[in-house]
Amino acid sequence: MSEIRRKVLEVLDGKCLTPPPIWLMRQAGRYLPEYRETRAKAGSFLDLCYTPDLAVEVTLQPIRRYAFDAAILFSDILVIPDALHRNVRFEEGHGPKMDPIDADGIARLGAAGVSNHLRPVIETVSRLRRELPAETTLLGFCGAPWTVATYMIAGHGTPDQAPARLFAYRHPKEFEDLLAFLADISADYLVEQIDAGADAVQIFDSWAGVLGEEEFARFAAEPVRRMIASVRARRPSAKVIAFAKGAGLLLKDYRQATGADAIGLDWSVPLSFAAELQKDGPVQGNLDPMRVVAGGAALESGIDRILDVLGNGPLIFNLGHGITPQAGPENVTALVSRVRGRR
Ligand code: CP3
Repeated sequence: MSEIRRKVLEVLDGKCLTPPPIWLMRQAGRYLPEYRETRAKAGSFLDLCYTPDLAVEVTLQPIRRYAFDAAILFSDILVIPDALHRNVRFEEGHGPKMDPIDADGIARLGAAGVSNHLRPVIETVSRLRRELPAETTLLGFCGAPWTVATYMIAGHGTPDQAPARLFAYRHPKEFEDLLAFLADISADYLVEQIDAGADAVQIFDSWAGVLGEEEFARFAAEPVRRMIASVRARRPSAKVIAFAKGAGLLLKDYRQATGADAIGLDWSVPLSFAAELQKDGPVQGNLDPMRVVAGGAALESGIDRILDVLGNGPLIFNLGHGITPQAGPENVTALVSRVRGRR
């Protein structure tokens, strides 16, 4: 039997591959007609996340079309608050909503029933590992405590997460309790994903960029460190990608502070700084998703610059954030073949 190579895992071990492996955040999504078709068969978006048949299908769609090097479990970071009875719903055109939590609500949170609630997602992971090509890395994921907490406190998305920032200053004790609680149950959830067949996991801290220096250390980096330590105490070889969107210069110490194997980079991270970060280990990123919408020269030059600056070190090629619904599927074809076509 020939040896199976999972290239994303090789890069997570520090190897430099030419061409680099590629996958895209939100690669299963509304830019694909086959996703929209499956989505229409599910009742709500959460039904899609909790129906293994459908979740497996949409996870596989971008793998069939583009043969990406990694598949990411189809789910959402907000299944955690949903499992905590926050009544999460996704309304068309309005983004996510849930019942906002206050200090008393935080004191009443408990982990009972969370694992049971998330069982269909874990079932999706095990079926995916059986159905994916052997060489495709399977990524599990969850939200970072800070980002999940921002939605739980506001009850919806906001442009700057002012409600959570304000709550953290007014109720520091309860807020830190919330982050620690989310870190612990999210670590349990990641261990379950790994045991079901996830080869590596990504932690999404999509709202890290609204935090000041001190708050980034306490609310973003520390809970992610706690999560990774909790996962590794049980699964010592677990591989973790940490994506703190918008963190800018604060990414300098993020790998060391959290213990992540690889650091995800958004498109605002200068490539010269990305190259510095890459001296300490693998990086993932960071093409502007709008270049995929634009296509043509904008797409090509963006890809080439990343490969020129980061292509000789450990790199997982990705976008700097999720692909948007306006992206043309044919531009993704062009993206993948340009990344793979270079020697
Ligand atoms: O392909 C993949 O990347 C896996 C699936 C995935 C989804 N959400 C599916 C989804 C992943 C990894 C996520 C993570 C997620 N969810 C994050 C972190 C990453 C990021 O984008 O910043 C956040 C903040 C959320 C919360 C969330 N979910 C929001 C704010 C929204 C609404 C915005 C939107 O794009 O509509 C969602 C909905 C969502 N999650 C969709 C998908 C495909 C679109 C809803 C639909 O198809 O009806």
